[in-house]
Amino acid sequence: MLIKRNLLTLWVLLLLFVSGSATKWNLFKRTPDAQEGDVRLTGSQSTSEGRVEVYHDGKWGTVCDDGWDMAEAQVACRQLHFPGAKSVVEGKEYGQASGPIWLDDITCKGTENRLITCGFKSWGVTDCTHKEDVGVICDSDTNVTMSNSTHSLDHSASLSDDLGQIFHSGDGCDFQITVQSATGNKWEDGTPEMLETKICAHRMIVSQFPFFSTLMGMTSITVNVSQSCQPHFTSFIRYLYTRKIDVTFSSAQCIHWMASTFGVKQLMEDTGRVFTKILPEDTSFHTQVSLHKYAVETEDLVLQENCIQYLAWNYENLTRSSAWPHLSVEVIGALLARSDLVVPDEYFVLQTVESWILEKGNSSSLETQAELLGLIRFPMIPAEKLYDLESNSSLYSTHENMYRENMLKALQFNVLLFSNLQTNPKFNKEDDDYHPRIYTSNPWSTVMDPFKKTVTKPVRAQYPSYNRRMQYDNGYNYRYHQPTVSPYIQTTTTSFSTPVHNSMIFQSNKAQWEANVFKNQHECSNHGLRCESVPVARLVPRSHLSQSNVLFRNRLLLMCQGKYICQVQDFKDNLAYIALNGTQVLAYPCTDDQYIYRFVVRPEYV
Ligand SMILES: *[C@@H]1O[C@H](CO)[C@@H](O)[C@H](O)[C@H]1NC(C)=O
Ligand SMILES: *[C@@H]1O[C@H](CO)[C@@H](O)[C@H](O)[C@H]1NC(C)=O
Ligand SMILES: *[C@@H]1O[C@H](CO)[C@@H](O)[C@H](O)[C@H]1NC(C)=O
Ligand SMILES: *[C@@H]1O[C@H](CO)[C@@H](O)[C@H](O)[C@H]1NC(C)=O
Ligand SMILES: *[C@@H]1O[C@H](CO)[C@@H](O)[C@H](O)[C@H]1NC(C)=O
Ligand SMILES: *[C@@H]1O[C@H](CO)[C@@H](O)[C@H](O)[C@H]1NC(C)=O
Ligand SMILES: *[C@@H]1O[C@H](CO)[C@@H](O)[C@H](O)[C@H]1NC(C)=O
Repeated sequence: MLIKRNLLTLWVLLLLFVSGSATKWNLFKRTPDAQEGDVRLTGSQSTSEGRVEVYHDGKWGTVCDDGWDMAEAQVACRQLHFPGAKSVVEGKEYGQASGPIWLDDITCKGTENRLITCGFKSWGVTDCTHKEDVGVICDSDTNVTMSNSTHSLDHSASLSDDLGQIFHSGDGCDFQITVQSATGNKWEDGTPEMLETKICAHRMIVSQFPFFSTLMGMTSITVNVSQSCQPHFTSFIRYLYTRKIDVTFSSAQCIHWMASTFGVKQLMEDTGRVFTKILPEDTSFHTQVSLHKYAVETEDLVLQENCIQYLAWNYENLTRSSAWPHLSVEVIGALLARSDLVVPDEYFVLQTVESWILEKGNSSSLETQAELLGLIRFPMIPAEKLYDLESNSSLYSTHENMYRENMLKALQFNVLLFSNLQTNPKFNKEDDDYHPRIYTSNPWSTVMDPFKKTVTKPVRAQYPSYNRRMQYDNGYNYRYHQPTVSPYIQTTTTSFSTPVHNSMIFQSNKAQWEANVFKNQHECSNHGLRCESVPVARLVPRSHLSQSNVLFRNRLLLMCQGKYICQVQDFKDNLAYIALNGTQVLAYPCTDDQYIYRFVVRPEYV
């Protein structure tokens, strides 16, 4: 009984401590000056809940609740460095706001890193009143301690360790958990051989979690886990005491599975985020594909999107990997539906799908094949390659009607002006077929590698080396320890030209582009720009673009260490601000900030 009472005290203390430490971190994180697109929570004592406000044009404003649900709340909370959102609440619970209502009809996928990268009407365009402001309660629970990560909870460590000690000693435990897993062998009578581990836990602790709370009439349970997860079960139960666990790349899927099976939501979400870090690690793509399968099974939409997005961005390498022929129809279909597929051109997409269908042999039905081929954007296939389809395409004879119909559509797109196309009832400019993916082949794209080792000219230091104060005054320069090297690296600039549109009609109608990467404010101001942060990439048309019915939705791709694409961004006012590894807004992690930049021009009819 004494132990129980101690435990209760510890538990309460732990909970108090957890919210306390989260608060401290937030204070620590707070930056003095708000930046465009920043988010804050107001009107509450707690830092982890409140009315949602967004900073724009020098003012904080609110968000209308039309379209706002958990996906949007997740994005807002993660932007504030909380692990996730707990619930959506009404903003007026935190007092009524007065300033502008900045965002309305907001739609996030849930994977975005900043609220303002989600879709919304337009700044300040709304039919809402402040009665409809949104609020949110973020999850301020402890973080998962990842192996090799420096983010451990130092403050609560001793308390947490005490609880861990209680679990470890088993003193006063009153709930027996037997963990079984099949070894894969069978006894002579045909029953499977089972490996068994017994763990003694405390009812009061484990009953906090839904799965165990329903069993509280009992004194013991038996659970089945797979053999590969068995070694991690003890640390999983320990987590229920301490809220701390080491998640490694190899244990992440197991821990996620246990967390979801036994209803430990927080751990599930935290481990889900570890997955994002794993994705770039496996160049064979088997991990990404298996994680996606797992995400489908567990109906984890965020993880599904995370995996598919990675595969879409790295599609070219995926098609060369050993995982490619084994992809399911669903995965191929999901990839082909996306406009952020990064590929040399649309003909490449067709070739890869044809090769996948041929490898799958008869296991995919003709209907399935036709459905997949129907996702090819034929009008986007470079015109000169269209004419070769009949002779080069291995599936042409099998699906002749489908090919002919789509080739006709593509030819019309290439020979008719937009205004003439519009009179055709079959032409719908919203149709995906008329929208480019991210095409990296000539002439649509150019690559820049600012870190390429070229002859570097040591320039005399801007600041004399004896002037230490100066070196530390400038936030940017203190990293340069060698005073003889100028902090001002030469601007990286490239020029190239593209047609103003990818319809053949515009073939000789060129647009000139200039691409730059500015690494510091000095370079920005040399170009008459005030950059919000550096580095920043810029892609500007050098001449006036005369086609009023063509809009450019250009993209910047960041390739990490020349190996995988870790980020795809759009340009706002011709600029794309680059995330550094520390700022946590990269879609997939990159251990150094040495990206290769790829600029992609994407014209669309409007
Ligand atoms: C969780 O950990 C991340 C780093 O992995 C950190 O940036 C964030 O502030 C932590 N969250 C909370 C609520 O402390
Ligand atoms: C992570 O830690 C393990 C040992 O704890 C070490 O072997 C491994 O090299 C580390 N990985 C990285 C990326 O630091
Ligand atoms: C665990 O698996 C074994 C063999 O597959 C089965 O006989 C047993 O009923 C299962 N136990 C539970 C609790 O599901
Ligand atoms: C595949 O289909 C073709 C005809 O469509 C047939 O001749 C062939 O035997 C089939 N192959 C397999 C492995 O089923
Ligand atoms: C089609 O095949 C011919 C002959 O093999 C080849 O020269 C041509 O480049 C191919 N066309 C395309 C678009 O690959
Ligand atoms: C793809 O694979 C090749 C060779 O394995 C590698 O050089 C390249 O960096 C990879 N990544 C991308 C995005 O092409
Ligand atoms: C960012 O990358 C640099 C260089 O590899 C590294 O020294 C630094 O610790 C990284 N920062 C974070 C927050 O991971």
